[in-house]
Amino acid sequence: EKGTYPHYMLKEIDEQPLVMRKIVQNYQDGEGELEIDSDIVKAMKDADRIYVIAAGTSYHAGLVGKQFIEKLAKIPVEVHISSEFGYNMPLLSEKPLFIFISQSGETADSRQVLVQVKEMGYKALTITNVPGSTLSREADYTLLLHAGPEIAVASTKAYTAQLAVLAILAEVTARGIGHEVDFDLVQELGIVATAMEALCDDKEEFESIAREYLTVTRNAFFIGRGIDFYVGLEGALKLKEISYIQAEGFAGGELKHGTIALIEEGTPVIALATQDFVNLSIRGNVKEVAARGANPCIISMSGLETDEDRFVIPEVHSLLTPLISVIPLQLISYYAALHRDCDVDKPRNLAKSVTVE
Ligand code: F6R
Repeated sequence: EKGTYPHYMLKEIDEQPLVMRKIVQNYQDGEGELEIDSDIVKAMKDADRIYVIAAGTSYHAGLVGKQFIEKLAKIPVEVHISSEFGYNMPLLSEKPLFIFISQSGETADSRQVLVQVKEMGYKALTITNVPGSTLSREADYTLLLHAGPEIAVASTKAYTAQLAVLAILAEVTARGIGHEVDFDLVQELGIVATAMEALCDDKEEFESIAREYLTVTRNAFFIGRGIDFYVGLEGALKLKEISYIQAEGFAGGELKHGTIALIEEGTPVIALATQDFVNLSIRGNVKEVAARGANPCIISMSGLETDEDRFVIPEVHSLLTPLISVIPLQLISYYAALHRDCDVDKPRNLAKSVTVE
């Protein structure tokens, strides 16, 4: 039930801090240490390469998850769009493990790949929000998101839950392999939950950013480097699916290879700057588009900010910034859709779970 909320989407955005805390609780053992079913950890350890298969927002979560797994567990990861994988299968490694990420657990494109890889004799893990869903039943292993039902078509809390579960999977696997993890993930996810609360309390600010940048525009760009690029892809998807503004996410450095031709007077460019090692270069990209008339909106992280930034998110561990930086983008999309009189929870042409190919 959406209670006093005008839309499920807003309620689900607000639930994210609580979901974070629930996930940590659900994946803790009696001593408070993060724990994953030992069969799953063994399957991860045995794999020489992991293939993540997903669609839409879940695919974007997979892109971030690749960073978690490669940085912490040091297992190579490829992330594939499920609808492409079947007929465009890459050369597989000797000992692959497949991870299906799907909020609903019913996405037909992903199911087809699962059937295919099971026939080839490979093991599969499903990360889903729905216990007993088809993908969960058909896979060898399941990890649950514990995000509660997601009703709005635009996925919000499932995305951050997917990131949290992927981080936990990466951390527990890393420890299982014997790699040192030099931070306390339980503590860091707690910091994330608190930061999420602060952002959810700042709705007026995001409403005003949406009003300022997105009320009249036909298009918008999201740019970032590294992990921020992947969050930009998700920001663009959120904006286009509910506000019908044509939005594209781009790697900051790739803009000048063509897309910058689309920048006109007033084009909104939302730039994420949460990563120290690319802070200067993403700001360089902002200057490039601003020089061509763009209206830049820089969202940075505390510690990396400058006077020109429109919003500064609280500081969290550099690997976990996507859990936080996506929230302004979710809220900006929500208000942009609202200002444009769009049906936020049920955008045109879309269904919550896509059970056709
Ligand atoms: C975006 C959205 C879709 C889904 C995609 C995959 O907000 O909801 O892009 O993420 O259809 O759905 P699941 O995760 O259920 O497989």
